[in-house]
Amino acid sequence: MIELRTPREIEQMRPAGRFVAETLTALADAADVGVNLLDLDALAHERIRKHGAESCYIDYHPSFGAMPFGKVLCTSVNDAVLHGLPRDYRLRDGDLLSVDFAASVDGWVSDSALSIIVGTPRDEDVRLIDVTTQALQAGIRAANVGGRVGDISAAIAEIAHSAGYSINTDFGGHGVGRTMHGDPHIPNDGRAGRGYPLRPGLVIAIEPWFLQSTDKIVTDADGWTLRSADGSRGAHMEHTIAITEDGPLVLTAR
Ligand code: MF3
Ligand code: CO
Repeated sequence: MIELRTPREIEQMRPAGRFVAETLTALADAADVGVNLLDLDALAHERIRKHGAESCYIDYHPSFGAMPFGKVLCTSVNDAVLHGLPRDYRLRDGDLLSVDFAASVDGWVSDSALSIIVGTPRDEDVRLIDVTTQALQAGIRAANVGGRVGDISAAIAEIAHSAGYSINTDFGGHGVGRTMHGDPHIPNDGRAGRGYPLRPGLVIAIEPWFLQSTDKIVTDADGWTLRSADGSRGAHMEHTIAITEDGPLVLTAR
């Protein structure tokens, strides 16, 4: 079921967006050569506690998950791109790290992700992150009243394809509200003018993710972490936005 939020409710969703954004900024600042992924998770956990927020991940147990997630962050390194379960790993020079974080504040969820390079960047990683960022921005720009979900999907896909990346549509964006995942699904590929009409008050996460040289993913032995099938690296960028009469409002803007 698709729920539309009133302008007042969208105002109430702002603190969650701000909290998620500030936490991601803190994590990006903290992520450095030698830093353990478990320390990043602990940092986010501590911020949740101090803020009186609630983690959307820790008890998350969808049908595809082997067990409840148990951590508050997804940390996906290099060939891992989504749902990276934080593990005892120290970041190395040149690692491509994607961090995905969702939490609820005052009963409203925000969900956001970013990819960064730790230490010395490789050109192909910079490009992958740039294109993923551009795809997110194009998706957001297409999120206007009067349009359709397919406009967002097509805008994302256009950026990926013109940069030469293929798209895996197993995971994509989604409605966001009292819970992390709601309708409608926002695929990272699709046709403009198709799909659910974009109405004022629709709150969604838009989250393009691309892999360097494949569209195939495999699940890690930990039961969660999704890696590219060919070992190439991935990037993931996500914002939670509200569709309003005045255009898209990025709740998780940093
Ligand atoms: N935030 C992810 C998404 O955007 C969901 C990750 S849930 C996890 O849909 F528990 F698997 F981490
Ligand atoms: Co999401």
